[in-house]
Amino acid sequence: MWHPPQRIAFLSDRGRVPSAEEAAASRLFSPLEHGPLTLSSRTWVPAMVPWRADDEGFATLAVCDWYRRLAQGQPGAIVIEATGIRDVPSGPLLRAGHDRYIDGLRDVVRAIHEGSDGKTKAYIQLIDFLAIKRRPERQKFFERFLRITERHRSLLGLNDEEAIRNRLIGMGDEELRTLLDAREWESLQQGAREQVGDVELPHIRELPQVLPELFAAAAVRAKTAGFDGIELHYAHAYTMASFLSPKNMRTDGYGGSREHRVRLPLEVFAAVRRAVSVDFSVGCRFLAEECIESGGTVEDAMFYGVEFARAGMDFLSLSRGGKFDDAKQPKVGEAAYPYTGISGYECMPQYLSDAQGPFGRNLAATKAVRDAVRAAGFTTPIVVAGGIHNFSQAEAALADGIADIVGSARQSIADPEWWKKLREGRGDAVHLCEYKNYCEGLDQKHKEVTCQLWDRVDLNAPGTTRTKDGKRRLIPPPGW
Ligand SMILES: Cc1cc2nc3c(=O)[nH]c(=O)nc-3n(C[C@H](O)[C@H](O)[C@H](O)COP(=O)(O)O)c2cc1C
Ligand code: SF4
Repeated sequence: MWHPPQRIAFLSDRGRVPSAEEAAASRLFSPLEHGPLTLSSRTWVPAMVPWRADDEGFATLAVCDWYRRLAQGQPGAIVIEATGIRDVPSGPLLRAGHDRYIDGLRDVVRAIHEGSDGKTKAYIQLIDFLAIKRRPERQKFFERFLRITERHRSLLGLNDEEAIRNRLIGMGDEELRTLLDAREWESLQQGAREQVGDVELPHIRELPQVLPELFAAAAVRAKTAGFDGIELHYAHAYTMASFLSPKNMRTDGYGGSREHRVRLPLEVFAAVRRAVSVDFSVGCRFLAEECIESGGTVEDAMFYGVEFARAGMDFLSLSRGGKFDDAKQPKVGEAAYPYTGISGYECMPQYLSDAQGPFGRNLAATKAVRDAVRAAGFTTPIVVAGGIHNFSQAEAALADGIADIVGSARQSIADPEWWKKLREGRGDAVHLCEYKNYCEGLDQKHKEVTCQLWDRVDLNAPGTTRTKDGKRRLIPPPGW
């Protein structure tokens, strides 16, 4: 993973540990009510894919165990992992693209409600994503994948396709860069990736026509399964974030200006809202900043925040970065991973950092979005996340008007019960996340996500469930 060249090492900090009385009187552990969004406290576990679904996208016992364990910390809400809205093969990624997934999702909801003694609300993150191919072998790319165009013909002065392919195979990188356009070069270097601007492809052109109904149908399934609400995934490297990005140059009314870029996200929300009704909580996660060249800025996010609030979303969760555009070059035969470049660092900052450090890098941008939403007259709750791992940070984010709800992802993996420990005045017993991103490395390889602090502890204890390779425990030991 990329990290800032300064390589300044930051240690997590326990901060001031509150007594049980202080915690009870805190903002963090006060309830929140906003329409159908009702939380027992302002604590939130943002979506994280733990790679425990089966190859057909069904929830397994291991998925339920994972969320039951997270629920034992009794956060206000857990947003379960990005879950696909389509009924298409997508490996061990949870799916909600067909009614056959409802029963498994119901088990996940039950695990969260039971595990938290009814204190934690179960949300599901609904995602759509476009196809991405593995980085090709050079020879194969020119023999099979590259589409020969008029541009190649005229630049090379050749007509015969085979002759063109052979010429390209024999060229060095420098020469190739002048012959391939930016997109072809990227496909060779990183692997081909569909983009929302590829309107010559019918399935991409028709995204605005098909996505609202796909999201709405998945939302209805989630509601039927018993979820308390839905988070539409409009963040990171995926379809909806790509519509919001200034890099979206579609000319069909769904790209170009901010007003056009936000159109599909609003139409998706409207379709979901119609399908699940106003008494069911629906919000979205989107980017406070894309953190890539020519990408979305905080001004874009302020505009979107106001539009989403105006449309009636029940919460807005702000993330940052996590794009394919600056991803590290994958090895041949592997796919690019959107958390390996600078934007990936901004999304999941790790302990080796610059002078700003890895904690709270999303606070200022989130505050700007919240201020814009408030200035427009909306009270929509805002969720912030990024490096928050102690009571002082969380309480300050609320007191300083940065957010209304505090999300902690990796800290909740490191110690799922950390919220409960804080609330009970046992903050000294919290296992602090070290932000070395071992978990994220597993995510990148699509391996079961575990934490380096606990995944080898008491491995032989009776009843311990292990990863497929048998080397790591799947959830922290009891009493962790
Ligand atoms: C293993 C792992 C999987 C993640 N999966 C998702 C996901 O499915 N959807 C999402 O919006 N963010 C995902 N994230 C990002 C987190 O939700 C969060 O925004 C990020 O880790 C920064 O918060 P933190 O510093 O509290 O960990 C994932 C993070 C990790 C570590
Ligand atoms: S492996 Fe554990 S300690 Fe390391 S970053 Fe992930 S959650 Fe934190």
